[in-house]
Amino acid sequence: MKVKYKIQCAWLLVLSILVNVTEACWGRPSQIIGNLTNDYSLVVGSTVDLNCTLLQHKISLVNKDHKNETYFVNSTHLFFRFNNKTVEEEYIHIVDPLTARLQVPNANIEQTGKYYCNLRLPETEKSTTVCLSNIYVGYKPREVSSFSCLSKNFEKLTCCWRPPTNPVPTTYTLKSQVISGGSLLGYGKCPNTTRVNNTCCQWGVDTSPPYYRNQEQLWFTLTGHNRLGSITQNIMVDHYKFVLPDKPSQLQASEETPTNIKLNWLPPKNFATWDFQPGLVYELLYKPNNSKNETWKIIKLGKNIGTHNLMGLVPNTAYDLSVRCRSAEASGEDMWSKGVSTLARTAPDVPYYVPNMTEGSFEVQKLTDRRSITLYWKPIPEEHYNGKDFHYVIYYKPTYSLNWKRDVSEKPVKVTDIKYTFSNLNLNVAYNFKIQSANEEGVSRGMEDITVESTEN
Ligand SMILES: *[C@@H]1O[C@H](CO)[C@@H](O)[C@H](O)[C@H]1NC(C)=O
Ligand SMILES: *[C@@H]1O[C@H](CO)[C@@H](O)[C@H](O)[C@H]1NC(C)=O
Ligand SMILES: *[C@@H]1O[C@H](CO)[C@@H](O)[C@H](O)[C@H]1NC(C)=O
Ligand SMILES: *[C@@H]1O[C@H](CO)[C@@H](O)[C@H](O)[C@H]1NC(C)=O
Ligand SMILES: *[C@@H]1O[C@H](CO)[C@@H](O)[C@H](O)[C@H]1NC(C)=O
Ligand SMILES: *[C@@H]1O[C@H](CO)[C@@H](O)[C@H](O)[C@H]1NC(C)=O
Ligand SMILES: *[C@@H]1O[C@H](CO)[C@@H](O)[C@H](O)[C@H]1NC(C)=O
Ligand SMILES: *[C@@H]1O[C@H](CO)[C@@H](O)[C@H](O)[C@H]1NC(C)=O
Ligand SMILES: *[C@@H]1O[C@H](CO)[C@@H](O)[C@H](O)[C@H]1NC(C)=O
Ligand SMILES: *[C@@H]1O[C@H](CO)[C@@H](O)[C@H](O)[C@H]1NC(C)=O
Repeated sequence: MKVKYKIQCAWLLVLSILVNVTEACWGRPSQIIGNLTNDYSLVVGSTVDLNCTLLQHKISLVNKDHKNETYFVNSTHLFFRFNNKTVEEEYIHIVDPLTARLQVPNANIEQTGKYYCNLRLPETEKSTTVCLSNIYVGYKPREVSSFSCLSKNFEKLTCCWRPPTNPVPTTYTLKSQVISGGSLLGYGKCPNTTRVNNTCCQWGVDTSPPYYRNQEQLWFTLTGHNRLGSITQNIMVDHYKFVLPDKPSQLQASEETPTNIKLNWLPPKNFATWDFQPGLVYELLYKPNNSKNETWKIIKLGKNIGTHNLMGLVPNTAYDLSVRCRSAEASGEDMWSKGVSTLARTAPDVPYYVPNMTEGSFEVQKLTDRRSITLYWKPIPEEHYNGKDFHYVIYYKPTYSLNWKRDVSEKPVKVTDIKYTFSNLNLNVAYNFKIQSANEEGVSRGMEDITVESTEN
């Protein structure tokens, strides 16, 4: 293992000398004054170790006036900078007349960054940069803790992960099972045709390897690799928990009665023909269309349902209706499909509600030999009018009489009214009153009645 790592290092070094030295060490290529240990990564807790070596004691630099300046230097003139600060002397050791060595023991991730080796020019205040090296202090690859998959409409599977933070550049490679004729052939890399980004892979029915839609469990290997090592983890995903269907299709309302609406719909596009083993469960959401803040009522429907008779509705009311579905295996709220919506109106009917008239909700006004009686009631909320032309109808009769007079039928009490006055009534007679709600469809079946006794003198 160690040998392998050294070989890799040596190979990297050759590469970097070709590629990096001119970038990382200052001066024109002919004027490079020294070198520095190349970029490398190390494990937290170990020692940052950099050797900066001058090529020779005599150096010449071109100054601003394009004149050569010659200096005689040795390794005591070298110093290091990190994070815009000069590194303290205690960390620098003179190895030989040309080499200074930086050693920072017990490094942590904050020691990640650019290290400059600089040269003080004797008898001046000036200095020049010799070389630069990038040092990464971090960890061997670690397991990812967040790995998740989502299958959009059972057509495309996307799996993503979030690598743990690590200053050492680390790549993760995901592989999925390759299956043929029911047996496992091995693991294949992410299809590169649909590669999303470095932390996600996507499979479709036509990729290689493909998205095996009839596998209840999906198995993956995720391999993390960096200069400090590698790690492989096996991951299992309960496939059907993460299938997010499209919305159901062709929602239609029919057979609207005053209190019922019948609904029919089809599964999401293509689901009817695919064999989606766990099946889809449906939910119906509804609320009156005109109510801004009323929350949706939700009815849980069964598995693979395509019809529902919604009952207990208010007559003559437009409803927003929406049907959504979810994999029967899924539990997350975010795994519900979008809803397919429609608007339907219940048929009108006679009013169901009658105003409440509790005892004492009347007022008597006495004149010399007659009296007037005013009845009060709590109005019916508009959503229970049940039809056009809502009004109240009030009948009255002396208690001894058998015949009701239909007083208000000719001049309906306005819906906004909450009282009505009968004048010119007899002082010494007790009266019965009854009130009903009414609209274009007729009068309410129910009624409220009240008796007002004769007025004592
Ligand atoms: C720096 O240069 C010296 C002398 O040319 C050489 O011996 C040494 O290996 C070099 N070191 C690096 C890190 O390139
Ligand atoms: C720096 O030089 C010393 C002495 O030659 C050597 O032991 C050490 O391994 C070098 N460090 C690096 C990072 O090359
Ligand atoms: C400056 O030094 C370079 C190389 O050391 C040399 O080629 C050049 O002729 C010198 N120029 C002057 C003006 O001395
Ligand atoms: C270092 O200083 C320079 C200018 O002095 C500034 O532009 C740069 O952002 C600083 N870098 C850090 C890491 O503080
Ligand atoms: C390095 O140079 C300084 C003068 O700039 C000198 O005093 C010192 O002796 C030299 N050291 C070595 C090891 O050559
Ligand atoms: C994936 O990419 C590799 C290298 O870029 C290429 O050789 C291979 O043919 C690609 N495969 C597909 C399926 O595109
Ligand atoms: C990769 O793509 C996914 C989905 O589009 C996104 O959530 C994630 O942030 C992306 N990751 C990166 C590193 O860009
Ligand atoms: C439903 O409500 C919207 C706005 O809230 C309105 O424009 C539309 O006419 C209503 N539809 C019915 C049938 O009442
Ligand atoms: C609707 O909101 C209003 C004020 O925002 C509130 O007074 C009323 O009670 C709400 N109605 C319902 C049914 O939540
Ligand atoms: C009338 O009173 C009854 C019982 O007190 C109540 O349940 C009902 O909702 C009331 N009706 C109206 C229209 O206020």
